[in-house]
Amino acid sequence: MDLKLKGKTAFITGSTSGIGFASAKLLLQEGANVILNGRNEKGVSEAVDKLKASVPGSMVKGIATDFSKQTEVEFLLEQLPLVDILINNVGIFSSQSFFETTDEDWHQQIEVNVMSGVRLSRHFLPKMLEANWGRILFISSECATLVPTDLIAYSTTKAALLAISRGLSHMTSGTGVTVNTIIPGSTLTEGAKRFLDGVAAKENKTRGEVEHEFFSKVRTSSLLERFASVEEIANTITYYASPLSAATNGAAIKLDGGSMGGII
Ligand SMILES: NC(=O)c1ccc[n+]([C@@H]2O[C@H](COP(=O)([O-])OP(=O)(O)OC[C@H]3O[C@@H](n4cnc5c(N)ncnc54)[C@H](OP(=O)(O)O)[C@@H]3O)[C@@H](O)[C@H]2O)c1
Repeated sequence: MDLKLKGKTAFITGSTSGIGFASAKLLLQEGANVILNGRNEKGVSEAVDKLKASVPGSMVKGIATDFSKQTEVEFLLEQLPLVDILINNVGIFSSQSFFETTDEDWHQQIEVNVMSGVRLSRHFLPKMLEANWGRILFISSECATLVPTDLIAYSTTKAALLAISRGLSHMTSGTGVTVNTIIPGSTLTEGAKRFLDGVAAKENKTRGEVEHEFFSKVRTSSLLERFASVEEIANTITYYASPLSAATNGAAIKLDGGSMGGII
């Protein structure tokens, strides 16, 4: 299938690793130009080099910006060229008791997870509407509705993205612009692998055993009963970033392996 992405330019926040990096790779394979992002120059240039090596001839560059720092974001907005596709992917979490989560912890997660997408959408949506084409994707999480007690702040930010995305989609009526939210479930990023391996080493188990226990004791509502791969999430992100997804707008697309339940 030709996703008709050739020549489109995509900016993906938080894309030096994980879901963002896998999405960048697929978009490049489909002929899009990609601008990567991470917090520092070194990480960004290493990720750019990795992608250039794995997708020869691809048009990839990067911009270092820490989304927890508003002044850096203002500088980023001055640097960025026009983009056709904005993927608001960056997301941080801290697993901790609600009672020990400080105002600073809340602000940090709101700044990175929510305000990054707010500021970028405020900048790019008017330009997309003027061009009569564009894609904005917000990357939420199953935590938006599952709300684990150790992730209340994170889950709140992920629920906020659903409202922002839906609200922005209302402004696109009659145009070629769409705004949607992708909702991944537990996904096997490098970070997730390190976490599973750490628990496995501590409990003298294999990574597979720790993963099995997570789904049998914690994420019991999952029908998939395993972590999704980053490629499985990136496949869907790439489709919804493409012109082929024009009929989907204002939607929340679940890639949760069934964990969130419900019939729609
Ligand atoms: N993994 C999961 O199980 C899962 C499940 C549901 C939803 N999600 C959501 O999916 C999205 C991607 O998650 P992921 O697990 O793929 O992420 P990840 O593997 O933790 O990747 C983190 C990326 O974000 C960048 N980053 C971190 N803090 C940043 C900041 N302040 N400013 C700019 N960049 C920053 C990192 O870049 P540097 O390190 O180079 O700075 C890196 O590129 C997130 O929104 C997450 O909430 C993930």
